[in-house]
Amino acid sequence: MMEKNRLLLDVDTGIDDALAILYALLSPEIRVEGITTGFGNTDVDQATENTLRVIQVANCGYEVPVAKGAAGPLKRVFPGGVPHIHGNNGIGDAELPSSKQQPLEETAAEFIVRKVNESPGELILVTVGRQTNLALALQLDPSIVTKFKKVVVMGGAVFVPGNITPVSEANLYGDPEAAAIVFESELPLVIVGLDVTQQTRLTKHHMAHLAREVAEDKRDVLAFVEASLERYFDFYAFSNGFDGECSMHDPLAVIVAIHPSLVKTQMLNAVIDCGAGYTAGMVITDRRVRSLVGRPVEFCLEVDSAKAIEELLSVFTKGE
Ligand code: RIB
Ligand code: CA
Repeated sequence: MMEKNRLLLDVDTGIDDALAILYALLSPEIRVEGITTGFGNTDVDQATENTLRVIQVANCGYEVPVAKGAAGPLKRVFPGGVPHIHGNNGIGDAELPSSKQQPLEETAAEFIVRKVNESPGELILVTVGRQTNLALALQLDPSIVTKFKKVVVMGGAVFVPGNITPVSEANLYGDPEAAAIVFESELPLVIVGLDVTQQTRLTKHHMAHLAREVAEDKRDVLAFVEASLERYFDFYAFSNGFDGECSMHDPLAVIVAIHPSLVKTQMLNAVIDCGAGYTAGMVITDRRVRSLVGRPVEFCLEVDSAKAIEELLSVFTKGE
């Protein structure tokens, strides 16, 4: 039997976060060891509620503990969620039944520290929200820095524009000081930023095809995905001029975590800007020949987006 990839997910559930969670829970190659939640697309309480409901609809056949995390950035004020992108409830106003599962008593940071200490060198952490929970975990126990198999971060933009300011991506902009702690650490980072996520697009054609091919036992989950994506397609048409397409930021990060051959990466020295204004949370890469600023970080710069989307959709077409 194939050995599963053991993942921790850190999310701000979110439409694309929900899809990332579903992909991870339904993939036969992944065992999700736990999900930590934070503020971002919505507040942390709603993100936690959404996460519990998404786990329930996934019906993956095993228990997935959820630990609630930070309600706001380390040093700044959380301005609130983004209902114009992710709806009033964070999942595109799609409705899911409430779950009986409760979040753990321990915080997200405590949970991350415990899990990685229990299985040093074995867990892949994929963060698809702010870096706050991970930064707090590093502050709680600095020794964890060497204990992850790798840490895949959805965030940042190197050679493409930002999506919240002209140069900054939303996850890193949302807590620059936390992102700086993570980037300055010795964590084995793989950055899945807008360079690759903006081109990894799910289309209405994909969804129409999926509706025909969906496995019988995935119909409920597909109905949720269809409902939540309606708003997301509208947002990308308005903001990016996409015609019936939307970016799969968070799902791509999970896919890359277990299928690294789908991307081409480059090591670049990088730091996070912690100033105010447009450059807050910007990834500054020092690409000079004599590079002096930052530490080497692995950035995904090219992606086989067709294969990535195929991989994402495959989990909905396979029955139990
Ligand atoms: O910039 C895209 C990221 O911001 C995604 O993680 C999305 O869910 C939002 O958190
Ligand atoms: Ca997210």
